Amino acid sequence: MQNTSGNIQELAGIAGLLVAGDKGLLAMDESNPTCDKRFAALGIPQTVEARRSYRELIVATPGLGESISGAILCDETIRQEKKDGTPFVKALSGAGIVPGIKVDLGAKALAGRPGEKISEGLDGLRGRLREYFTMGARFAKWRAVLTIGDAIPSRGCIEANAQALARYAALCQEAGLVPVVEPEVLMDGGHTLERCRETTEEVLRTVFEQLYTQGVALEGMLLKPNMVVPGLTCPVQETVEETADATVKCLLRAVPAAVPGIAFLSGGQSGELASARLNAMNVGFGSRVPWALAFSFARAIQQPAMAIWKGEAANVPAAQQALYHRASCNRAARRGEYNASLEKTEHRTR
Ligand code: 13P
Repeated sequence: MQNTSGNIQELAGIAGLLVAGDKGLLAMDESNPTCDKRFAALGIPQTVEARRSYRELIVATPGLGESISGAILCDETIRQEKKDGTPFVKALSGAGIVPGIKVDLGAKALAGRPGEKISEGLDGLRGRLREYFTMGARFAKWRAVLTIGDAIPSRGCIEANAQALARYAALCQEAGLVPVVEPEVLMDGGHTLERCRETTEEVLRTVFEQLYTQGVALEGMLLKPNMVVPGLTCPVQETVEETADATVKCLLRAVPAAVPGIAFLSGGQSGELASARLNAMNVGFGSRVPWALAFSFARAIQQPAMAIWKGEAANVPAAQQALYHRASCNRAARRGEYNASLEKTEHRTR
């Protein structure tokens, strides 16, 4: 069954725009507790004003729109403004960046399934989506979290999260927002690349079955998956090319060709590794896969900038430089033109 609400062409246009050319998404939608945790690690005060200043630094980075097509905000940030009174949403649109919004309310313990989580936020979502659309958002994100461990993820956890993702996606399309569907298989643990591949394939197959059941138009959505990589503490760490190969082969088995784009999360990889792996996928498969292979990174774009900023106004230009640099590296990776020597070339903000 297919959504016939008539706005599919419009949604497909936005989805296409978000992954057009060599651009990608910037996730700047960390929840307040997550943002505060990252600030605390760098000695930055954990206040509303510090979070606002940091997000202003991002949206005001000169030339960011050269590499970034859309930015994902959180509920606090979409309501905030630059110091000069310009709403962030307006500043982003002015820079040619489509504003998006994270709408899940976080991953909570799944009843009866120790160690597993279910993302909440469906109750009242229709009303929230209406408000975000009015505020200028044109796409949305919902993240589900799957952990690899002894006998997990369970079918119960995979199915519950897949169904929630599909119900969210259907509500988004009804509201005129492109759903970015994010089932994240976490990198934490000592599991092998093969275990990640198997789990990711099962999760994606289940998600697409649910998207079909709920009538979601695949042409008007984007997928935001993890890359297929070994666990962080696995003693065997495959090469960049091997992970790129495993990732694309897994996606080819599980993601329908009607989906316009795949925008990976970075999941805690370093900025350089995330760029190198995305690059290898585009070099090896870019012209042979049906979808754009793009990015929707948070940490892999932001982390160096946040570390340079440290909450000090004087560090803003250098932090913006670092943000622009990582965004430009990922733009190069989309073209298959990233290499380690680019890390030494300074990408200068204009
Ligand atoms: P990372 O790129 O840091 O994994 O974040 C992506 C994201 O949006 C998580 O929901």
